[in-house]
Amino acid sequence: MSTRDPSGVSPGELRLATAHLPTPGAAPALPAAAASTPGISGASGRLPGAPTLPEGDPVSLTVLVQRLANEIFSAPPGAAPPSAADLQRAPSAPELSAPGAPAPHFAASPAHATRAAPFDATPGAPFDAPLDLSALTAEPFAPMSFPLLDGAGAAPAPTAPVAPDLSSPAYQIAPTEGLGARSLGGTAFDAHALKEEFPILRETVHGKRLVWLDNAATTQKPRAVIDRLSHYYEHENSNIHRAAHTLAGRATDAYEAARESVRRFLNAPSVKEIVFVRGATEGINLVAQSWGRRNVNEGDEIVVTWLEHHANIVPWQQLCAERGAKLRVAPVDDRGQVLLDEYEKLLGPKTRLVAFTQVSNALGTVTPAREMIEMAHRHGALTLLDGAQSVSHRRVDVQALGCDFFVFSGHKVFAPTGIGAVFGRAAVLEAMPPWQGGGNMIQDVTFERTLFQPPPARFEAGTGNIADAVGLGAALDWLTRVGVDRVERYEHELLAYGTDLLSRVPGLHLVGTAPDKAGVLSFVLDGQKTEEVGGMLDREGIAVRSGHHCAQPILRRFGLEATVRASLAPYNTPEDLEALCEALHRIQAGRAAVR
Ligand code: ALA
Repeated sequence: MSTRDPSGVSPGELRLATAHLPTPGAAPALPAAAASTPGISGASGRLPGAPTLPEGDPVSLTVLVQRLANEIFSAPPGAAPPSAADLQRAPSAPELSAPGAPAPHFAASPAHATRAAPFDATPGAPFDAPLDLSALTAEPFAPMSFPLLDGAGAAPAPTAPVAPDLSSPAYQIAPTEGLGARSLGGTAFDAHALKEEFPILRETVHGKRLVWLDNAATTQKPRAVIDRLSHYYEHENSNIHRAAHTLAGRATDAYEAARESVRRFLNAPSVKEIVFVRGATEGINLVAQSWGRRNVNEGDEIVVTWLEHHANIVPWQQLCAERGAKLRVAPVDDRGQVLLDEYEKLLGPKTRLVAFTQVSNALGTVTPAREMIEMAHRHGALTLLDGAQSVSHRRVDVQALGCDFFVFSGHKVFAPTGIGAVFGRAAVLEAMPPWQGGGNMIQDVTFERTLFQPPPARFEAGTGNIADAVGLGAALDWLTRVGVDRVERYEHELLAYGTDLLSRVPGLHLVGTAPDKAGVLSFVLDGQKTEEVGGMLDREGIAVRSGHHCAQPILRRFGLEATVRASLAPYNTPEDLEALCEALHRIQAGRAAVR
């Protein structure tokens, strides 16, 4: 199929309109069509005495300029400029596999290179190669299965879960004696004042004050972040790095300042180790596709835990299926904590990577990350820590943790959606091939080869989410001013208070009772469907999530398909939890608000 437009110019081909080339003595008139085209009308204007192109056949001149431009754009860095003789030769088709051509900086591994049809680079038809769509038609919706699990961490068969025994100790909560709302003042943390910084928390829902307890899904944004985004769009908006003008400079400075904010927040050694991505999911996919494809081979193993979000399962399943590797799963006990002995049994010389969450989004379990990372390193494996649910609740120090990768999403930590970051240890990132190709991540491109930027730019192809990266920096700076350690202490008390209140709701069973937990109260109610509980709470103005929380394996570990989940942020107050528990008492008494 030809992509030529009616003017006869192919996309990507440089052509100059002869009528636009002024010659000495005459400024030719614009062609009628061009003269009536918005934005072109002044193109032929020439100042008296301004330099002109030499006399000559305008068509030859056009061809000469066209060839010169194409030579310049395809020349390797440092190459000598083309001679006049070179330019007189007919342009040759680029030879993508020409003998002696420099090898691509990062060649695809031969075992996994997919062969494309030869590139048809016939002059004049550079983009006319027929498309091969056959790959798109093969069983696109066939379910994939990953029969790769074994050993101590064997997953349950993918059948409907057995009904949980809610009378088992795993679901019993021990009420905390003597805790009340007043005792939360002990942390000298003013959650009511903090709440005032979040405009959306003044909303009413169904005529009730909004109680936002869906923070594990996404956090609300403080005025500081909203104002920073407005300031960016009102005073700084531009693409970055690519243009030498004032706003490009402002946008670049703001973007790179945000990278420094992320570095500082994570205590990473260098900004070169901070890659902006869309969020934790994209960060994990980046590592799986770039590091994983290069380093994971047949028979190798990747270890995850039973607590993982789907985002930390599926990319590894896909990688294992592609590379012939095995996914192994560390089990958890009945309270939802990783069984360290069982975890260690899974580690060995075949383990390439351990990827696990720092805080479970479904249960709130805080994993013993540092210990698990040390154990993985003792066996020569790298580690990826999923910080999506930890960054808003506790201090993260990637140097103290010792992880090789750390990923998180901005929107879970008071920043906009669509932005997040990967920390990768410098030596590991430098040895990784790019994942996506495009602008921004290259040093030099010819048709024969491409030289890539060093990290982090190597992993940031195309125009990034500049404004939201700036918003992320503002959010992390805001949280640092609030004090992450104070937030952790306050939320610890708030969680204990909420656990105590929930323990008094008849027929309520908490799911996930690990001694070290952060920010999550996941539960089921006797006689109630989780989605109906969510709906009834919404009618009371209370936002919680009900469902599988994108973590089906861990819920099935407890015999469940869904829970109701209330999740905390530092702007939540004891009154928010009291509102939740009063509503749950009403639901259990059959007196829930009805629309
Ligand atoms: N990962 C998000 C949650 O836990 C969407 O709700």
